[in-house]
Amino acid sequence: MVIVNSIEALFKETEKFHGSVGFVPTMGALHEGHLSLIRKARKENDFVVVSIFVNPTQFLEGEDLDAYPRKEEADSKICELAGVDIVFMPNAEMMYEHDELSITAPAIRGFILEGTKRPGHFDGMLQVVMKLLNLIAYNKPTEFRAYFGKKDAQQLALIEQMVRNYFINVQIVPCDIVRDADGLALSSRNVYLSKEEREKALSLSRSLKKATEMVMKKELNVERIKEAMREVLFEVDVEYVALVNRHFEAIEEVEIGNTIILVAASVGKTRLIDNLWI
Ligand code: PAF
Repeated sequence: MVIVNSIEALFKETEKFHGSVGFVPTMGALHEGHLSLIRKARKENDFVVVSIFVNPTQFLEGEDLDAYPRKEEADSKICELAGVDIVFMPNAEMMYEHDELSITAPAIRGFILEGTKRPGHFDGMLQVVMKLLNLIAYNKPTEFRAYFGKKDAQQLALIEQMVRNYFINVQIVPCDIVRDADGLALSSRNVYLSKEEREKALSLSRSLKKATEMVMKKELNVERIKEAMREVLFEVDVEYVALVNRHFEAIEEVEIGNTIILVAASVGKTRLIDNLWI
């Protein structure tokens, strides 16, 4: 495995690739969730590239950019053990110039839910993902796949749309959410949770379980499901509970096979999201 810290070095290394490339973009602080993407990429491709870059343009003023966990050494070790070929660790100076053109997330998927609370976040996320996809595919791999977790469901939908709208030659591979044994969806931000906060955080996955149980009992009414979920979430500061179709449009009734149930809540100072695809 090689670690590259410059774009020139990245191009030199990817030039040696002859075959398919699987790419896993990350902001580091790697956990089992990331590892599941890396393992899938490893299985499905000849070469695997992981990027580690805490992208400043997707953090809003006052968010945890400076405090975001950085564990470069441990992350490199994890990548090496997982059989990654290249770890790409750029810095902001080489990724951005002063006055850049920008990408704007579309209204329907960009300005609801996460977008409402974090205006501009998706624009910055799309901008860096576009750059990273272009960089990793620079030397034209025979096949190019990029792996994203379903946990960031809105992010995934927007990336899929960007790839479609800009005719980017990549296959986006959505990957299932990985949970701890107690049900908590893995996130780099879980390290911020105290023991008591973690207990409370479990109500996010419990609320999704409650929703599933209701759907299994043929309760498909969105308002009633949301109400029951909010009852489970009484110990956390709920930001939104939402049921949307796979295009992130509002729905009144659950449609099996085309519904995503999403929840966002703060536990102490830590903001968490979770979702379930049914
Ligand atoms: O999901 C993330 O970790 C980030 O949003 C991503 C896709 C690596 C872009 O910075």
